[in-house]
Amino acid sequence: MKKVYFETYGCQMNKYDSELVAAILKPEGFEQTNKAEESDLILINTCSVRENAETRVFGRLDTLSSLKKKNPELVIGVLGCMAVRLKEDITDKKKFVNFVIGPDNYRAIPELLSKISKSDRKKQLSLSEFNSYEVYGELFPIHTKGVSAWVAVMRGCNNFCSYCIVPYVRGRERSRSSKDILAEVKKLVQQDYLEIVLLGQNVNSYRDENCSFADLIKMVADVPGVERVRFATSHPKDLSPDLINSIAEHPKICNHIHLPVQSGSNNILKAMNRRYTREHYLELINSAKAKLVNPGLFTDIIVGFPGETEKDFQDTVDLIKQVEFDGCFIFKYSPRQGTAAFNMRETLDNEEKVNRIKILNKIQDEISLKKNRKMIGKTERILVEGPSKKAKPNQYMGRTESSKIVVFTNPEPVKNSFINVKIVDVQGHTLFGEKI
Ligand code: 5AD
Ligand code: SF4
Repeated sequence: MKKVYFETYGCQMNKYDSELVAAILKPEGFEQTNKAEESDLILINTCSVRENAETRVFGRLDTLSSLKKKNPELVIGVLGCMAVRLKEDITDKKKFVNFVIGPDNYRAIPELLSKISKSDRKKQLSLSEFNSYEVYGELFPIHTKGVSAWVAVMRGCNNFCSYCIVPYVRGRERSRSSKDILAEVKKLVQQDYLEIVLLGQNVNSYRDENCSFADLIKMVADVPGVERVRFATSHPKDLSPDLINSIAEHPKICNHIHLPVQSGSNNILKAMNRRYTREHYLELINSAKAKLVNPGLFTDIIVGFPGETEKDFQDTVDLIKQVEFDGCFIFKYSPRQGTAAFNMRETLDNEEKVNRIKILNKIQDEISLKKNRKMIGKTERILVEGPSKKAKPNQYMGRTESSKIVVFTNPEPVKNSFINVKIVDVQGHTLFGEKI
């Protein structure tokens, strides 16, 4: 057996894609290893959403190149969004990279590998054409760990938010057929996965003839053996009342919504080309709070978008306080060449961006703590994922329906099963429970 080592940066879609590539490589005689130094093939799956993700990959490639001195037969490939955005840069600056391949071309990896083995190892190959039909429909990824499995339902994005590189590196929106999605889910159930996470850059745009995302998610939740279904990510302009109703009505669809707001200021939302207002966003949140029991509400925020004034920033502060999210992922604006915002003059320096991030994080930490403390004394059904990250002996962790982490002690190892715990303590974002 030959060995392939994956290193994956960025979003869940990239992690899913690495698992897809593992499935493409299996019939070629590759098994996965988690040790780069013992591999025959290193694949770096990259992200272009922010500059620092790209910088890290360039640094990491240099480190991995030293393995070629020990093993001249080693093949290094770069996958993902950087393979589209920076293919010339990578092949010019990193001569040791054997091939560069974009997200729509993974089926060609075996062919590239055979060309490389026949030719001289110094030749570099690159393939990053968009393919507006590619959804890897019938191809099922090989999952390596965890108790929940991602299933891609659509790929690409048509929204062109003015800061975002995704539409340029992942191409236009296209949906996978519900038949293929359901077949994948049924296979996952046979492999004992209890939780399914439906993935897409903008799942609300899903369409398969008459089947909308609100229909699809119910069909997935109805597959016998599926215990929980989540989804990521939705766009506030497309999140339909039907979807909120599907979540409310179906016991297996988790009361958990990740709805990126990006900014609380209407001026900035307009400049970002988000095509909704803060009022619309707040209406959606109010409707989710009214229809769902204790929903887990999560969001993404970008600080320091060009032109963001103190007043705009305060609008974001105000929105966070009004909504009381369970978690916020807060990012510093990073200009991406080729996007509309790249030509807008930046108005904040790094120090001010960092300062605004700190302020938002502090407010959100206080809100999370307050909300978590309210859970003390309550009983939660959690899906156990295994030993907790900073595990003390016999400490395990699981997630509530709203996606909060609960740590508890148990005399025997537990994984991939549901247990009921009573919440007894809170530290930061982590809840502590006792098994009942
Ligand atoms: N700069 C900073 N953050 C960005 N995101 C997307 N593009 C950029 C950018 N240019 C953030 C958004 C998105 C998340 C996945 O990454 O908040 O929701
Ligand atoms: Fe980027 Fe906007 Fe598409 Fe999300 S919806 S991937 S932020 S362009």
